Amino acid sequence: MTQTPTWLIANWKMNGDAPRVRSWAFAVNAALGAHSAHVKVVFCPPAVYITDAMAALPPNAQLALGAQNCHAASKGAHTGELSASMLLDAGCDYVILGHSERRAAGETDDQVHAKALTAMAAGLMPVICVGESLAEYEQKRTNAVLNAQLSLLEDLPRGGYLIAYEPIWAIGSGRTPSMTEINAAHSHIKSVLGSETAVLYGGSVNAANAGEILAQSQVAGALIGGASLEIESMCAMITSASTRGK
Ligand code: PGA
Repeated sequence: MTQTPTWLIANWKMNGDAPRVRSWAFAVNAALGAHSAHVKVVFCPPAVYITDAMAALPPNAQLALGAQNCHAASKGAHTGELSASMLLDAGCDYVILGHSERRAAGETDDQVHAKALTAMAAGLMPVICVGESLAEYEQKRTNAVLNAQLSLLEDLPRGGYLIAYEPIWAIGSGRTPSMTEINAAHSHIKSVLGSETAVLYGGSVNAANAGEILAQSQVAGALIGGASLEIESMCAMITSASTRGK
């Protein structure tokens, strides 16, 4: 059995509503109970529902909460934005940063780095997303793309953040890289950031493939979008994570 917990991070993106957030948080936390020594689940609903998730959890809940973004500044004139300390106040311990859907909307490596520093200073653990496009994958440029995305992150305190390797072409597509490709990309990330870096895989993880993906030696967990929305498939992935046996 694994000594470090397997991470399962549920990224709801812009989906759900308050009743679904509450029932999911309550049910998944209950299902996590027996597995919580081996599996760490982080629920990242839309930020407006973080307090709903928090309110649905019993005291000493094992389910952790995260946000999907934060601002790089600690406060100020940034209409519509949320600071890391506000997310901490609402009950978050984690924040996803640099998701490809945000990078596609203009977020840069510099901004991701600045947000990571602010988040860590506030006491949040960033989950920093990296990964190549389909064209870059087909041109076999994955490592070069990763190098560019990772270079600024080398000065972050080791162990204070998680990396999610998410090939953009695998997100929401039903396609995944081969297990050899996943292990190779994860090894490459560790060769840049340090072997102790926890690297999660994301992109079309679901209840059917989670067991195989989580069994890979370089994979510390999964960042899950669409398949995390339903309680049943989330619970199935918790079972896979708890039995990955390494
Ligand atoms: P997906 O999304 O699981 O729906 O492919 C993953 C992600 O974007 O984090």
